[in-house]
Amino acid sequence: MTLLLYGAYGYTGELIAREAVDRDLDVIVAGRNGTKTRGVGIQLGTESRVFPAEDAADNLGGVDAALNCAGPFVETYEPFVEACLESGTHYLDITGEFPVFDALAERDREAEKAGVCLLPGAGFDVVPTDCTAGHLHDRLQGATHLRLGFEAPTSVSGGTVASAIEHASAGGKVRRDGVVEEVPLSGESRTIDFGNGPKHAVRIPWGDVSTAYYTTGIENVEVYTAMPELAARAMEVSQPVSTLLSVEPVKRGLQALGRQLAAGPSETERERGRTYVWG
Ligand SMILES: NC(=O)c1ccc[n+]([C@@H]2O[C@H](COP(=O)([O-])OP(=O)(O)OC[C@H]3O[C@@H](n4cnc5c(N)ncnc54)[C@H](OP(=O)(O)O)[C@@H]3O)[C@@H](O)[C@H]2O)c1
Repeated sequence: MTLLLYGAYGYTGELIAREAVDRDLDVIVAGRNGTKTRGVGIQLGTESRVFPAEDAADNLGGVDAALNCAGPFVETYEPFVEACLESGTHYLDITGEFPVFDALAERDREAEKAGVCLLPGAGFDVVPTDCTAGHLHDRLQGATHLRLGFEAPTSVSGGTVASAIEHASAGGKVRRDGVVEEVPLSGESRTIDFGNGPKHAVRIPWGDVSTAYYTTGIENVEVYTAMPELAARAMEVSQPVSTLLSVEPVKRGLQALGRQLAAGPSETERERGRTYVWG
């Protein structure tokens, strides 16, 4: 099976490319910057393809599955999905973005007809929490409410910051009676024991609000993450400012800053960090 990995010189894309090569998968690395893409290809000894996401249709020859690691994904998923449906190529990405989950759920029939899998959210968002949701549903058939939570190491990559900023002005999200509703960001908090003592946790607009409904059929879904009370309070107080993020130049400026400042977890953090999932 040949896997084309787009966004291969990003923090996450490169880690996945290395892992895929270590596992002897047949990988093609791809991205929009020629020097960086070819650099990763040379390091890993793989073929490289350089193209903007909009040109995905011309670049999937000989590819069985495309894994998109170039986010914010609202800007990249569409041409890939169109090209994958057209060419009979499976599509995966590592998004956590609601508009992408919702758009791809709508295209289920087309995917079935084309004989391909459209699988957004194949990263930490939402695989472990979705497995927890599925497990809880198996154990508690007939459940009407689902609460999920996780505690993760705090350092994140620049792309994750940029993607969070991309959607920050959209506020929080919960699913009520089957419908995804907008709620105030950080509007709800609770104490959760993730297995290592009670922690303060706040409600966040995590991808499971969209996806757990498809996995379990449960119509009321909320997701929480561990956050020190002080940080949660700061988020609450700064909420009115988040509307500024709908102003395009402000958003772009902060995204560029976020990309520069957030280097992503170090090798040691990746090796030693622990993440806990709760439901
Ligand atoms: N689900 C999960 O568990 C998980 C985990 C980590 C990250 N993520 C998500 O994955 C995405 C990437 O994160 P990262 O940490 O790897 O970020 P990163 O280091 O900033 O890398 C992003 C990559 O995507 C490319 N890219 C961004 N926008 C593009 C566009 N419009 N067209 C073509 N290429 C584009 C970048 O190329 P340029 O440098 O040329 O812009 C770069 O190669 C983020 O959305 C993040 O939230 C998800």
